[in-house]
Amino acid sequence: MDNRIVINEVGPRDGFQNVDEFIDTRVKLAIIDGLVAAGLQRIQITSFVSPKAVPQMRDAQEVARSCLARYPGVSFYALVPNLKGAEIAESCGISEVSYVASVSESHNLANVKRSVTQSIEELGTILARHPKLKVILDVATAFGCPVEGEISDDQVSRYIDKAAGVGVTRFTLCDTVGVANPRLVRERVGRLIRDYPDFEFRVHIHDTRNMGMVNTLTAVECGVRDVEVAIGGLGGCPFAQGASGNTSTEDFVYMANAMGYETGIDFDKLLATAKYAQAHINGNFSGHQIMITRDCKVQ
Ligand code: COA
Ligand code: ZN
Repeated sequence: MDNRIVINEVGPRDGFQNVDEFIDTRVKLAIIDGLVAAGLQRIQITSFVSPKAVPQMRDAQEVARSCLARYPGVSFYALVPNLKGAEIAESCGISEVSYVASVSESHNLANVKRSVTQSIEELGTILARHPKLKVILDVATAFGCPVEGEISDDQVSRYIDKAAGVGVTRFTLCDTVGVANPRLVRERVGRLIRDYPDFEFRVHIHDTRNMGMVNTLTAVECGVRDVEVAIGGLGGCPFAQGASGNTSTEDFVYMANAMGYETGIDFDKLLATAKYAQAHINGNFSGHQIMITRDCKVQ
């Protein structure tokens, strides 16, 4: 099987959106510079959402235009919750978006103020009106919901079928609140890969209960070669109670590199960027590598 893992960095969106104090745009850009220098080729740099819903993302257009102008070879993508977000993203030159819609009705309503059906229909409109825009669907609450509890295999399959009906073929399975466990990941991800062999699946796992690494690795061992992680283990959904940080990029890259997977990322430069972020952002950093004070590397 392919030994390469595509690392998608979502810290500048998922990580920053959960920080209350506005992060200076120059700090955001300096962190993105550090991520690019470490070898990250795919970075979710912002979200085009209502500035009332997520004030931290109010500089989305500036961040996007600046990144695209400076690094034409890097894939910068953004999260959008609706048609308006997709329109603004494309007008800034963004060619790829993650569109978010939850499996759970309650979470979708809290997050994007729509029913799941409305969200999927709006996604159909985006695909029809913006054929050049590459879209991946973020399947929020794919492993459980903070309000509704367990989400069944059937619910996820019905959701995927509905999305496939409007033309979606790429999905990010999101453990929005960090309620998955390795067995659930193995069974759910394994089943989806078997049932939908023509579709692409990525995973996005939160580390609320210290299972972010093992759950992400379990998905890799099931055959997923595309993961989302966040620098410093920052992250969380402001519209899902109890959600905490994502699987940390530097922790995951260290493990993947040590296991012989190819990530193409320079761990030392990545760690330096995580430490820069920690020094400049008043947020909840939960990564382990940034906490190591005395190095005990085996040479
Ligand atoms: N980008 C920028 N502004 C947007 C926008 C977008 N994608 N979508 C809506 N807006 C603006 C509207 O122009 C309007 O502005 P105004 O009050 O100045 O006229 C305002 O936001 C409300 O618009 P409306 O369409 O009524 O949205 P809503 O109040 O029903 O909220 C969402 C729906 C989807 C826009 C909002 O819930 C949202 O942005 N959610 C994002 C949630 C998120 O980021 N979660 C974390 C990541 S998963
Ligand atoms: Zn997330």
